[in-house]
Amino acid sequence: MKKLIEKLEKQSILTKEEYAALIRNPTPELADILFEKSVSIRQKYYGRDVYIRGLIEFTSYCKNDCYYCGLRCSNRNAQRYRLTKDEILDCCRNGYGLGFRTFVLQGGEDPYFTRERLVDIISSIKNEWPDCALTLSVGEKTYEEYKAYYDAGADRYLLRHETANDDHYRRLHPKELSPENRKRCLRDLKSIGYQVGCGFMVGSPWQTEDDLAEDLLFIKELQPQMVGIGPFIPQHDTPFGDKRAGTLELTLFMLGLLRLTVPYALLPATTALGTIDPLGREKGIQAGANVVMPNLSPVSVRKKYLLYDNKICTGDEAAECKNCLEMRMKSIGYNVVVSRGDCCNFKLS
Ligand code: 5AD
Ligand code: FES
Repeated sequence: MKKLIEKLEKQSILTKEEYAALIRNPTPELADILFEKSVSIRQKYYGRDVYIRGLIEFTSYCKNDCYYCGLRCSNRNAQRYRLTKDEILDCCRNGYGLGFRTFVLQGGEDPYFTRERLVDIISSIKNEWPDCALTLSVGEKTYEEYKAYYDAGADRYLLRHETANDDHYRRLHPKELSPENRKRCLRDLKSIGYQVGCGFMVGSPWQTEDDLAEDLLFIKELQPQMVGIGPFIPQHDTPFGDKRAGTLELTLFMLGLLRLTVPYALLPATTALGTIDPLGREKGIQAGANVVMPNLSPVSVRKKYLLYDNKICTGDEAAECKNCLEMRMKSIGYNVVVSRGDCCNFKLS
């Protein structure tokens, strides 16, 4: 197994069988060997800097019905809200004052936010804060919509592929959502010129080691600028409410493998990782991650954006979240930096 990690370190890729063999053995001993390498590669590309992105969860309405997600349209217990354009701009203003230079607009697939409305919001943000990067995370759209958002000024797009294996994908989603369209979206986003983030949940129901190996190979091929991963965590009002959560250990191990597979990538230590373990995000950084995403949403709506149970940071003001993360990163010897933090592999034209 140690040989496989050395091979991965040298070649940045393994076969599916080799990846799966490693993923079947996420022992503490092997993890230590892996993290020593993943941390030193991250150090080489990004030093000890940790980038922050200000997350604005601007709508909890969603027309989709993913079996794992608390925002699914069938969840009658979910509390729904939408931020107005002015409220979104207020979040950015607050964030800008705190030093944020990247804003992430994330929401469910909410038909209220038509192309026209989103274009208006995007251009207003870019007009007022032209030095900031704007990231969208609003799900599956047509090529033309993605192009319109890009032309309005959006720089980056996050769309997790969730699982690269098509059969597995179909078990996590109703039939209206297809793995083909998901992948089409990611390729369109790349071809338009976005800096793209994909990603997957670790330990989602029925996931196998082979599926995770396919995730790594899919990512290797797509060459995204960012990869967001976190443990699956059940949400009690969903069909997967009684499924087991993904583990901290396997999520960290996957972060380590990702760092060796896409050395240049931005890898967030996600809120879900901080939710399954009080020091999850710190441990994520120590496994090779280099981004954290504090919440800039108004505290009044935080508890209404519950993808999964026990989500952290739902009672804290943006400033508190940022301070908290700064302290946490400092405690393990890392500095939070406020630049746009472009992926070092992305050529700005
Ligand atoms: N547990 C963990 N992550 C989840 N997501 C959605 N529901 C859950 C859950 N129950 C993730 C998905 C989605 C991202 C916004 O949040 O990967 O793409
Ligand atoms: Fe939000 Fe610690 S990061 S309170």
